[in-house]
Amino acid sequence: MSEKQAIYVGIDLGTSTSALAHVRPDGNPEIVPNADGERLTPSVVFFDRYEGVKLVGSAAKDGGDPDRTVRHIKKHMDDPSYVVEIDGEKWTPTEVSALILAKLRKDCARIIGQIDEVVITVPANFNELARKATVTAGRLAGLKVRRIVNEPTAAALYYAHTQGVRGRVLVYDLGGGTLDITVLDVDTDRIDILLSEGARHLGGSDFDEILLELIAEKYREQNGRELVLDATQRRRLLAAAEDTKKRLSKLNVVSEKIGTEDYGLAEVELTRDSFEEAIRRLLTRTVMLLEQALDTLGLAPKDIDHVVLVGGSTRIPKVQELLTRHFGKAPVSCGNVDECVALGAALFAQRARRVSEVCNHSYGTLAIIEDAQTGIAKVRNSIVIPKNTPIPCSMSQTYITSEDNEELIEVEITQGDDPDPRYVDIVGKISLRVPPGRPAGCAVTVTYSYDENQRVRAQVYDEESGLRKDIAIEYEGAGVLNEHDIERKSAYLKQVRIA
Ligand SMILES: Nc1ncnc2c1ncn2[C@@H]1O[C@H](COP(=O)(O)OP(=O)(O)OP(=O)(O)O)[C@@H](O)[C@H]1O
Ligand SMILES: [Mg+2]
Repeated sequence: MSEKQAIYVGIDLGTSTSALAHVRPDGNPEIVPNADGERLTPSVVFFDRYEGVKLVGSAAKDGGDPDRTVRHIKKHMDDPSYVVEIDGEKWTPTEVSALILAKLRKDCARIIGQIDEVVITVPANFNELARKATVTAGRLAGLKVRRIVNEPTAAALYYAHTQGVRGRVLVYDLGGGTLDITVLDVDTDRIDILLSEGARHLGGSDFDEILLELIAEKYREQNGRELVLDATQRRRLLAAAEDTKKRLSKLNVVSEKIGTEDYGLAEVELTRDSFEEAIRRLLTRTVMLLEQALDTLGLAPKDIDHVVLVGGSTRIPKVQELLTRHFGKAPVSCGNVDECVALGAALFAQRARRVSEVCNHSYGTLAIIEDAQTGIAKVRNSIVIPKNTPIPCSMSQTYITSEDNEELIEVEITQGDDPDPRYVDIVGKISLRVPPGRPAGCAVTVTYSYDENQRVRAQVYDEESGLRKDIAIEYEGAGVLNEHDIERKSAYLKQVRIA
């Protein structure tokens, strides 16, 4: 009899595709295919009308009825009030993601065995709300989530492990929904993230939309009339446009057949050049973000030892060309650019290396600050932990009370860089009652700590009275599930047939 080896896996829960990987006994990570025989599972859910089955993956993608098909749910992960309503039932982004994760869990159980623990990856620029929603989605799917890891960190770990990538590395991840740019120092036994920047809503699905517009434009040119599509036809053509886009990464000219009810079949011709021209504005934005990231670190392109490619959209030849031009050398690609995040996450799940990350947002508090030039005092956002501070960390800032007889010290916890309070989010509040009758000018220290799972705690300490209060920043409100909801919903999801 031998002891069962614990199964630790890494999951890349992507906007367009998800993947699951484990580490083989020889120490190398490998993708575990789903029960449909595919290495990548499209992050698409189809809500079947007849038997209530939830199809996940390719079967869902080709499910037939776009009104019953949910795609790109990850784009809404930070919005718990977003719901999809099908057959009178409401599904939040967390719950839809749980269906995808449940499919991965079930399929993995059939192929390599029951999972003991998982590491799930998220874009580096996911906020706390979206991170928490991801952990909750895992729990609803019946998974024990060991931790959340940033996608670029996981990818860097994979490149370090398999391609010997060392030194100052820039991970350029252009996926289905987001662009992530991360600069890391990679050594044999540790990875330090120096900075993570990115853009939400910049990725392959935006290119699909642009290609659809281009198809409509060509159609108009060729046929002298508008391409009129109802919502269903539009969604079908959008899915077809994605395939066309992929063909354009390999071919210079392709044609697209469009069937419309009114006019029958039409064919339009598309060239790689015209597509690349159409997405130029977005590609330029990715280069600007690159420059900004290097600027922030005071680095020049020559200071980067390796640029590594992650994400399916980096297969677009123009993307590689722009990077080659910018850095004066070709980027490194492992080929399986849409699998390397899951493979790196599997290495994480095995605790292969020490990795230090940075915090993704600045945290501060509202305080009255005098303008150095005008002398006018105004409420400003005073930063306590600046973005990109290595984590775990704990930082403090001392303030003084501004009025006599202040009995209630209120600390509003902000997330964001802008000094102007209108442009930051208030993510929590601490109120501390202090003894009456005190003059203005009492010292109050605010301390924030940020742990390796990007969880934040805040503490306020009143020096004179010695009183203190400590809270974890928890996101509550419409749509955010508490422990009781999680138990109830995960029991419910266990009953749902997922295929
Ligand atoms: N050959 C190709 N040419 C162009 N685009 C491609 C190609 N192959 C895949 N893509 C695009 O890559 C995107 C998917 O990439 P990937 O699987 O890395 O993203 P994701 O992980 O789902 O998204 P994200 O990381 O933003 O959450 C899709 O938009 C897909 O159309
Ligand atoms: Mg991805």
